[in-house]
Amino acid sequence: MSKREKSIELLNRAVNDELLAVHQYMYFHFRCDDMGYDLVSNLFKRIAIQEMMHVEQLAERILFLKGEVEMKVEGEVQKLTEVKQMLEQAVRMETQSVDDYNCWANECAAHADSVSKKLFETLTAEEEVHQDQFETELDNLGKFGDHYLALQSIERSKSVATGTPAE
Ligand SMILES: [Fe+2]
Ligand SMILES: [Fe+2]
Repeated sequence: MSKREKSIELLNRAVNDELLAVHQYMYFHFRCDDMGYDLVSNLFKRIAIQEMMHVEQLAERILFLKGEVEMKVEGEVQKLTEVKQMLEQAVRMETQSVDDYNCWANECAAHADSVSKKLFETLTAEEEVHQDQFETELDNLGKFGDHYLALQSIERSKSVATGTPAE
């Protein structure tokens, strides 16, 4: 396998992971929105959009290397309905991405593809932010229990009652 092919393979593995994250976080977004939990619902949506932008950055690099972007989504969307389980799953996915992208940055460096290495480093830093955001919400849920979710439902009812819908 040429150096370029190795980079394309790693970049496509990342595309697959990012697409799965988009699907998973949008599923969580719909579920939380349906239950009236606006804060977590919006967090899942916002991060899903950021993962979509990661797909775009990876795809641009693959095309520059004259590869094909494999838009496969391997892996199942977990149909979780408990907010705690959703946040735990999200933390697991982000942790896995951080580990993988760190390794793949090193692999790209080892075969002298410094631009792909830099892309993986940038993505690693952004996944660490996601991991931190999901962990913060998991901590809040642990600290405040059902109040954490009840407060979000009340906020939604308030905005409906006053005619100022939340975003
Ligand atoms: Fe990502
Ligand atoms: Fe992420």
